[in-house]
Amino acid sequence: MPKKPSTKAKLLSPRDWERAARAKLSRVAYDYFRSGADAERAMKRNVRAYQRWVVWYRVLVDVATRDLGTTVLGHPVAMPILIAPMAYQKLAHPEGELGAARAAAAVGTIYIASTLATTTLEDIAAATPAVKLFQLYVHKDREFTRELILRAKQAGYSGLVVTVDAPVLGRRLRDERNGFALPPGMTAANLASDSALAATEGSALASYVDDRHDASFSWKDLEWLRSLSELPVVLKGIVRVDDARRAVGHGIDGIIVSNHGGRQLDAAPATLDALPGIARAVGDDCEVYVDGGIRSGSDVFKALALGARAVLVGRPVLWALALEGEASVAELLRGMAEDLSRTMALVGTPTLADIRRDMLTPES
Ligand code: FNR
Ligand code: LAC
Repeated sequence: MPKKPSTKAKLLSPRDWERAARAKLSRVAYDYFRSGADAERAMKRNVRAYQRWVVWYRVLVDVATRDLGTTVLGHPVAMPILIAPMAYQKLAHPEGELGAARAAAAVGTIYIASTLATTTLEDIAAATPAVKLFQLYVHKDREFTRELILRAKQAGYSGLVVTVDAPVLGRRLRDERNGFALPPGMTAANLASDSALAATEGSALASYVDDRHDASFSWKDLEWLRSLSELPVVLKGIVRVDDARRAVGHGIDGIIVSNHGGRQLDAAPATLDALPGIARAVGDDCEVYVDGGIRSGSDVFKALALGARAVLVGRPVLWALALEGEASVAELLRGMAEDLSRTMALVGTPTLADIRRDMLTPES
């Protein structure tokens, strides 16, 4: 008998994933995941920046096999696409962080666990033997911050991603209107129980960050932070060349060019526009990654051509997680890798090392 066509709609474009996820999520959760700060200009700027470049493809190159492998902080990955640290993943699906971390391991890439995970960093670490990084928010309570770092080291994380673009939380209008807070039964599992994100007027997350995050944390405190463990340190949220150089001067191992997905300073530049200058300035002194607005394999290609070693993907992972948990996140990541592989074939670059800056020019 002929096979019946599947009734499950195929998810082909980033919009398809978001639409399907939106239908499953509560409005409060969808709004939290989707939002940018203020008028959401930075969020849109990130996406638009990718549309402004064209790729001058080569022909008659043997592209019969393509290799998407690289290394991140010395660890091999099967694709230059990592999962960005994102808070509260159980809001997307009951599997939460465990589902997303297992999907990353299944496709051979790195999961970055957020300080604000709804699963403890120990449980995430134990979910797979794969390499993982821990994203750190520096708290005013330095002893608590120190404990987080020691716990991450103890649990086997391979590095710290210190987020430096959130001394206070950007204002997300929908979260303010929705009185965004975690639903009963869900907690920010790494935090002390007294810091349960109680409902307030406005966003409970914004109140938490303003109360507990250390807005005084600055360059001079990096020495202290680095003295607490031998773990490599990556700074996430840099857009300026002078800050990137300074990070190198402090012996930082990696930089993530990021504006937090447009969730912090709404007047921030598109991260793709910040990337080439930073990549040029730091050269081989430390690894450079980028995130914000990456939605396709062709976006990944452009980020790599403009100097990134690898990219991080944020919201699309949450849309996938909201559908069938781990299985959907793995499907999304495999789809992005296939898309990158197809792009590499069409451009005539069988390996990531073949991707060059001069293949891109701004659209005229
Ligand atoms: C984030 N991001 C983030 N970053 C971080 O360092 N720690 C965190 O806990 C979070 N939490 C978080 C929650 C949600 C819902 C989103 C959408 C984002 C920022 C994230 O790591 C990344 O920088 C952006 O999401 C990348 O942009 P795209 O891919 O979402 O456009
Ligand atoms: C956010 C924080 C938690 O962007 O990083 O929502």
